[in-house]
Amino acid sequence: MASAASRRCILRSLHLFFRRPWSVLTGKLDQNYMSSFTSAYAIMNDEHGDPRKVLSGRNITLSAKLKDDEVLVKMLMAPINPADINMIEGTYHIMPKLPAIGGNEGVGEVLEVGPAVKCLSPGDWVIPADPGWGTWRTHAVAPFRELQKIDNKIPVLSAATIAVNPCTAYRMLKDFVHLKPGDAVIQNSANSAVGQNVIQIARQWKIKTINIIRDRPDKDSLVKYLKDLGATHVVTEEFTRLPEMRDLIKTLETPPKLALNGVGGKSATELIRHIGQKGVMVTYGGMAKQPVTIPIGALIFKEVSAVGFWNSKWNAENKNNPAKEKMLEELCEMIKDCKLMPPKSDLLPLTKYQEAVASAMEGYKGQKKVFVMDDNMVLFP
Ligand SMILES: NC(=O)c1ccc[n+]([C@@H]2O[C@H](COP(=O)([O-])OP(=O)(O)OC[C@H]3O[C@@H](n4cnc5c(N)ncnc54)[C@H](OP(=O)(O)O)[C@@H]3O)[C@@H](O)[C@H]2O)c1
Repeated sequence: MASAASRRCILRSLHLFFRRPWSVLTGKLDQNYMSSFTSAYAIMNDEHGDPRKVLSGRNITLSAKLKDDEVLVKMLMAPINPADINMIEGTYHIMPKLPAIGGNEGVGEVLEVGPAVKCLSPGDWVIPADPGWGTWRTHAVAPFRELQKIDNKIPVLSAATIAVNPCTAYRMLKDFVHLKPGDAVIQNSANSAVGQNVIQIARQWKIKTINIIRDRPDKDSLVKYLKDLGATHVVTEEFTRLPEMRDLIKTLETPPKLALNGVGGKSATELIRHIGQKGVMVTYGGMAKQPVTIPIGALIFKEVSAVGFWNSKWNAENKNNPAKEKMLEELCEMIKDCKLMPPKSDLLPLTKYQEAVASAMEGYKGQKKVFVMDDNMVLFP
């Protein structure tokens, strides 16, 4: 019998399919529709600063006629990720020119293509090829090179959130250490969107995960949720400092070869303490805003190494690498098989951007804030 999670996944997929516009299902498009999209609603900032203060929702003009290489896209969904907030604050490593449209990640549906565009057709779904593209908008006209086609048979929420966190998790599990079935990975912020993807992808590859979370009143339900996703062990930050943690590590065939650090500070130091000889710690985030400290003994005697990973850089350097296509295909297959679920999400219309951004900045509350561009799009039964 199908599990509750897979029943939910099937229902969502069916529902999303039948909710798709008639034009896409039939392949027929109204020849005059272009005139109705000469403007779009976008969430923008003219200056860097507190996103609660510098963002505003406004109508922007789109060119009425597409250039040869351009595509008209109707945005469907776009999440709010920590990097989006940092980009608006002006603290991120790369920043688009101002005035800028918010949002790095999201999915849109192609409505029309210019005559020179051969790789995209109306009805295709696309995600931005580069960071800083500005996904918090209803429509966009853009050169096709700025967009990457994505399978439109996956749920729209999965498509909107595939580019950053699932890809980051996939690359970190693949590119730093050779992991074989039975090997173990240890990670902090295991309940984050990245962490949940690590758990699910590792399960597919038969890799064990030791998952560290911060203590909380509803810890038991979070532990159950992560174990349902495929977590092998879930422990709190406090537990990692107890002798029992060493006992837990001893139950593994070999100590973790890879540690994934999204927090920094003391939490990262604990990760290093629990990886094995020549283990590698990959830092991808710094949610605690504290530097990483590595004990000297770990460097000299355990020969551990500490490196960083940045998904945007990987994408920029691998635009035409078949490995990127392969990764997206593999992730989409996992999604279709209901083996890779998007994080729990709170869906809001773009017009509620102030509430959404303020809430995202208060910290992760177990739900990603995700903008839905079409108010009529009913997503879950
Ligand atoms: N390098 C890359 O390519 C890349 C790619 C994707 C994401 N990231 C980064 O990864 C991090 C997580 O992103 P996400 O989208 O997965 O985040 P998310 O889903 O919003 O989750 C945030 C996580 O951070 C934890 N956290 C928040 N404040 C913390 C603190 N002071 N100390 C310890 N943990 C804290 C939260 O734990 P609680 O539930 O306990 O609050 C939660 O697990 C961000 O820094 C993001 O920029 C980097």
